[in-house]
Amino acid sequence: MPVKGTLILPGDKSISHRSVMMAALSSQRSKIANISNGEDVKSTIACLMDCGIKFNLSSKYLFVTGGKFKQPESDLDCGNSGTTMRLLIGLLAGQGINANFVGDKSLSNRPMDRIIEPLKKMGLNIESNKLKPPIYISKSDLKGIDYNMPISSAQVKSTILLAALGSKSETKIIEKVTSRDHSEIMLKNIGVNIKSKDGSITMTPRKKILAQDIHIPADPSTAAFFIGTAVLMPGSKLRVTNLLLNETRIGFLKALEKMGCSFNYFNVHEESGEKVGDLEVSHHKLFGININAPDIPSIIDELPMLALIATQAQGITKVSGAEELRVKESDRIKAICKNLKEVGADIIEKSDGFIINGITQLKSGNIDTFDDHRIAMTFHVASIISGKNIILNNTNCVDISFPDFYKTLESLIQ
Ligand code: S3P
Repeated sequence: MPVKGTLILPGDKSISHRSVMMAALSSQRSKIANISNGEDVKSTIACLMDCGIKFNLSSKYLFVTGGKFKQPESDLDCGNSGTTMRLLIGLLAGQGINANFVGDKSLSNRPMDRIIEPLKKMGLNIESNKLKPPIYISKSDLKGIDYNMPISSAQVKSTILLAALGSKSETKIIEKVTSRDHSEIMLKNIGVNIKSKDGSITMTPRKKILAQDIHIPADPSTAAFFIGTAVLMPGSKLRVTNLLLNETRIGFLKALEKMGCSFNYFNVHEESGEKVGDLEVSHHKLFGININAPDIPSIIDELPMLALIATQAQGITKVSGAEELRVKESDRIKAICKNLKEVGADIIEKSDGFIINGITQLKSGNIDTFDDHRIAMTFHVASIISGKNIILNNTNCVDISFPDFYKTLESLIQ
């Protein structure tokens, strides 16, 4: 059945986390519209409240007043959210408090060495459970660093930048492939002296942080599930409004274009330094493509959905250089391969990606979501596009990023 209509989505998850964290640094009141209603962002807000930051929710806006962090009385529970834990550790590192960060089973198994190493170099007292959570930080005097990023990770980059705000000297970060740059854009908006040029970012610390008045654009990583469904279902015509179109986030749209899809854009403009616009998509016949290491950062969260789409594209789709997928909310390479095989796809697992040979008719099967929101959403879409009995062992995990996922998709199916 075709997907038709207009899709209005909650704000981008990455920008939502950053908006409340950076608002927490300002003693003036910030005003945030269209914040993500997912559990991950709620975890960030709850942790900041534990540190004395004031939140006020009206029907339209979230108001935040910060400026001073108090010692939390209990553990900071980051739930399932790697972004919450990593970025908050950076944010609080330079704020003169002690804090213990904990997470759920998935987060407790995710690598933290990637932030521990640079933060130690900056002078942070930080302890971990064999480089995994729980993580304990205590009051430290931080200095800026020159840091060559060993992996392309916006979480690591942002952690360092947030810590650098509370340090004593300039910080310089060098990235091989530019990861999402929402932190850099927002830091500029709140008055911080930060410059990005040819893969190198320099920032000077600043005490006085300006408040924000921000409307967060729709999350392209959530939109991917709807756009993908529309592309695959004959007769579809879907318009996604106010969509975040930042260059570092549109790898999924670019991949679909390479596969033979085309989009119409309307009302493209800049809002709070971010590119935003409406996108219109309809059904297209698709062909297999190669996705390699330099493409990965801009499509990292959309690769589960891209894999499903590749099963419906003519020929071979090869994804390589995506080993980071193994340390997300689940081992997403394993989750994609196991579950796509279960529903009859032709897929070969590689250490750093997968090879899919399409087109295959999907069949009924039982899906292990590994409690991962993006795996659950991908295979719910698989059930819609195939019309087969594809059963998820955990449907609730979509709450992590978009609790209204099922009913929103349902409302667009004509
Ligand atoms: C995020 C960065 C990415 C992404 C994650 C959100 C962010 O992670 O996968 O969902 O908000 O900075 P990495 O930095 O680990 O690549």
